[in-house]
Amino acid sequence: MQPVLTYLQENEPRFVRELCDYLRFPSVSAQSSHRTDVEAAARWLVDHFQSIGLHARLCPTKGNPVVVAQTPRTQSAGARRRPHFVVYGHYDVQPAEPFDLWKSPPFEPRIDGRSLFARGACDNKGQHIAHLNAVEAYLKTNTELPCDLTFVIEGEEEVGSENLAAFLKANHAELRCDAVVISDTGIPDLNHPALTYALRGICALEVKVSGPSRDLHSGIYGGSVDNPAMALCQLLARLRDKNGRINIPGFYNDVLALSKYERKQLSRIPHNDAVYRKFLGVPRLFGERSYTTMEQRTARPTLEINGLTSGYQGEGSKTIIPAWASAKLTFRLVPNQTPQRIHKLVARHLKRLCPPTVRLTIEGGHGGEPYLVSPTSPLAQSALRALKAAFGREPILLREGGSIPILTDFKRILAVDALLLGLALPDDNAHSPNEKFSLDAFAKGMRMSAMLWPELAAVC
Ligand code: BES
Ligand code: MN
Repeated sequence: MQPVLTYLQENEPRFVRELCDYLRFPSVSAQSSHRTDVEAAARWLVDHFQSIGLHARLCPTKGNPVVVAQTPRTQSAGARRRPHFVVYGHYDVQPAEPFDLWKSPPFEPRIDGRSLFARGACDNKGQHIAHLNAVEAYLKTNTELPCDLTFVIEGEEEVGSENLAAFLKANHAELRCDAVVISDTGIPDLNHPALTYALRGICALEVKVSGPSRDLHSGIYGGSVDNPAMALCQLLARLRDKNGRINIPGFYNDVLALSKYERKQLSRIPHNDAVYRKFLGVPRLFGERSYTTMEQRTARPTLEINGLTSGYQGEGSKTIIPAWASAKLTFRLVPNQTPQRIHKLVARHLKRLCPPTVRLTIEGGHGGEPYLVSPTSPLAQSALRALKAAFGREPILLREGGSIPILTDFKRILAVDALLLGLALPDDNAHSPNEKFSLDAFAKGMRMSAMLWPELAAVC
């Protein structure tokens, strides 16, 4: 193991340069104008895998391609089956807008101290590249990997992974494995490495309210027709009450209550409301009453308006009644809610609330089920040992509020759990302007990956 760790340390400056090369691709999956950049990022990844000695290929899907790479298979005939792990990540990134809030351009990586700034730096390019580098270290130092690895790096995670389930089904024989390892979650700080054992699910939809067949003069017609922007605001305002409860009949029916034990565990995670409030820049925190901030953001369901559009947004004023108004909504879900059922409840409720003066249409977006596994399995315990060795600190168990929709498909199609070993820090600005990745987290992540494989292989 020592030569592997030494190799990682000695090559860190080059690893950082290569990560910068990767970050220069604006692989924004949500925007069709970036289609060729998305493809170019995938191609770069295939080349990179090949250059370190893996068998890599680009697998087309109905959407963006999936990059698949295998470590060289060394099994001699008749020998015991070698443990096999799939490492999952995503090369697509969130849109970088609003650009003017970035201190340096989002796709021109900038290093400041031990921080590397770029869109996708922590979510997720830096995190999965840490695993690639660990494998490179094994191969280049001729250290035997105690298991086989297959990397599956997709290009549609940030838009709901719609084509990945079909890919997993079509390739399930090749992907049959003992567990999926994913670094695409967070840690509270570098002194608290963590295994995440629960994520929230998601139900995304777009609501559109339309009125007149065109924008109207608000003086000539105002007072005689409903205003779609107002109607939409009134509709949305009825969906959540002042105590942070979601006002949709049946919404909480399937919610699994937090056990006393879990609430105790969650209260152990380092957190301070006053510091948190300042860090986020809000005048006061807001959340569902009777739950702590940690519970609110990881183990309770929510409704957020992600975007709201209507009328004139340009310079100066324009006196109109807009023809339509629309909102992008996401619900974060917890066990045992399902995106399908929540979508139905929301659609039914909105239709009931909608006044006859406007028309309502709802377009289904993407969805993902919530995820919860036991952190006591032998594999989870092995992962905790690797975290402790790599970070030199006692690891903690986390529930987190974000979503990785494909996790339940891994479970359904490959019948395996995921080990979520994140490297993102709370101030990494994922999905926000000035996203960054800590180079210390990068270095520790590479060590963690190197130390993980012997630990995991030992219990398979
Ligand atoms: N890495 C995140 C998910 C995440 C973030 C998990 C923080 C735990 C803590 C992932 O890339 C992501 O952002 N997922 C989207 C999924 C959505 C677009 C379907 C999310 O959670 O918004
Ligand atoms: Mn993300």
